[in-house]
Amino acid sequence: MATHTNTILNLMIDYNGNDVRRINHTLKVFAFAQSIGRDESCDDRAQTIIEYASILHDIGLRKAEEIYSSGILKYHEELAPEIAKELIGDLEIDNGIKERVYFLIGNHHSYKKIDGIDFQILVEADLIVNMYEDDYNLEAIASVRQKLFKTKTGKALIDTMYLKKETNNESRQL
Ligand SMILES: [Fe+2]
Ligand SMILES: [Fe+2]
Repeated sequence: MATHTNTILNLMIDYNGNDVRRINHTLKVFAFAQSIGRDESCDDRAQTIIEYASILHDIGLRKAEEIYSSGILKYHEELAPEIAKELIGDLEIDNGIKERVYFLIGNHHSYKKIDGIDFQILVEADLIVNMYEDDYNLEAIASVRQKLFKTKTGKALIDTMYLKKETNNESRQL
């Protein structure tokens, strides 16, 4: 676990307060992102960015919902970097890592902008969780897998969790 991961997790939970559903969503995305990063052998810098960005990726939602009645998807991206700066700006984290985290959370639904393994893994982890929380049908899951998934680990997770016909206890082939 990267140096400030636990601190940032606690800051995220404090910020979201009694919004347990959102905290749970974030914890799920974080766990998948962290695990995919490790299984894809990301270097320390990428792994750190993946952990911090996954914890903060939806930090703009609370404010976006307060201010706007529509366009939440767009606004929660726009608001996220500023809120994240308030939360982690004073932590002793390399500036390049901070800037990359702000960029990722400010663009995490803008799939055309994916420009690195950190961005890719954040998107895959969020989608894996959203497929369940937003009740995607099998067709939609297969289509998203084909269009947006690149990592072997992310694809294997989708296959195991959603696309395998019969349930079984076989472990994943990684
Ligand atoms: Fe989001
Ligand atoms: Fe999310």
